[in-house]
Amino acid sequence: MNNTYQKLLEPYTFAEGFSVKNRIVMAPMTNFSSNPDGTVTDEEVNYYVRRSKGAGLVITACAYVTPSGKGFHGEFGSHSDDMIPSLRKLASSIKKQGAKAILQVFHGGRMCPPSLVPNGDVVSASAVPPEQKTPTGEQPVPRELTHSEIEEIIRDFGESARRAIEAGFDGIEIHGANGYLIQQFFSPHSNQRDDQWGGSLEKRMAFPLAVIDAVTAAVQTHAKEPFLVGYRLSPEEPETPGITMDETLGLMDELVKKKLDYLHVSLMDFWSVPRRGVDDNRSRMEIIQERVGDQVPVIGVGSIYTAEDALKALNTGVPFIALGRELIIDPDWVQKIEEGRASEIETKLRKDAQEELVVPEPLWQAIMNTPGWFPIEN
Ligand SMILES: Cc1cc2nc3c(=O)[nH]c(=O)nc-3n(C[C@H](O)[C@H](O)[C@H](O)COP(=O)(O)O)c2cc1C
Repeated sequence: MNNTYQKLLEPYTFAEGFSVKNRIVMAPMTNFSSNPDGTVTDEEVNYYVRRSKGAGLVITACAYVTPSGKGFHGEFGSHSDDMIPSLRKLASSIKKQGAKAILQVFHGGRMCPPSLVPNGDVVSASAVPPEQKTPTGEQPVPRELTHSEIEEIIRDFGESARRAIEAGFDGIEIHGANGYLIQQFFSPHSNQRDDQWGGSLEKRMAFPLAVIDAVTAAVQTHAKEPFLVGYRLSPEEPETPGITMDETLGLMDELVKKKLDYLHVSLMDFWSVPRRGVDDNRSRMEIIQERVGDQVPVIGVGSIYTAEDALKALNTGVPFIALGRELIIDPDWVQKIEEGRASEIETKLRKDAQEELVVPEPLWQAIMNTPGWFPIEN
């Protein structure tokens, strides 16, 4: 086939011999539509079905690994074995459409609204409130986790990996990005501990690396088929003190040693440049890709809307491109490229298209009520 965008459609085989059909990933996106007990709803499943026919990998919204980590209303859970049937429904619905299904798991830490966690007990690495408000507009001062609680949460991540395997997912993504608990341990803003979990840069990495070890140990024990383990991170924080680009490159070096199946760099703009920490005016993605090289595949993301945008991003050498908002706006994005109809890709959300695009009401309302978040047709 003579397709200008053929490179986006090339299959990829991971180290374990596990193949995906193309280089497009659906980015993890919370949809606020699960049941209060943490199970998925039909609306949510239908939303994924509508979006799983094109991308090679579909990464789900983040699921909480333990009730103290629930960060959003309408978030689904991977926190108990009772959730396995719900997780299975989600995994099989995605896989039936042809995509590989990856479960994203997280703990919200100090970004959890007190009303969503047991006894309003919001926890983090240290008792430092976030500079941003939680989704309910609150800014709680978290309680510092004890050593044994930290070990328990690490085990919870491993247990979620086991449940993801039992539910039939093809992999798991550890959400170490966007200011949630794993990042809170790595950040000098939220982690002011002076025990084995904080202090030096090396000690701030201890929690993220221990979570990875727990997840990979669960995979070794329970997976009978190749099962991917990915890690998502945000390269910098705006706060002072906050994670800098050079610290992230140090973390990258350690992550590479963990033999992960992929690294996912969370950005709102693929082409954004470092704020501080390195004397380099290339984009963060290019700097990271150069550092990681071909040791582990990297997923890049951020404001990629057209086929040209995606091809340009892929040409930096990053092997996978994730689309978030764009796959809400146009769920047929990949199929249009496959059929030589890239020019028909829609890049602005149509206000009258909620039903056609199969977007659950709570997500639709969040989009419509957050000016500037999505490109919306006038
Ligand atoms: C509605 C919505 C929900 C999101 N939820 C998550 C999430 O659960 N986990 C996560 O890692 N990132 C989440 N993100 C961030 C996206 O994965 C992505 O990094 C970001 O939107 C930039 O990509 P885009 O420009 O293609 O949308 C969310 C983004 C949106 C728009």
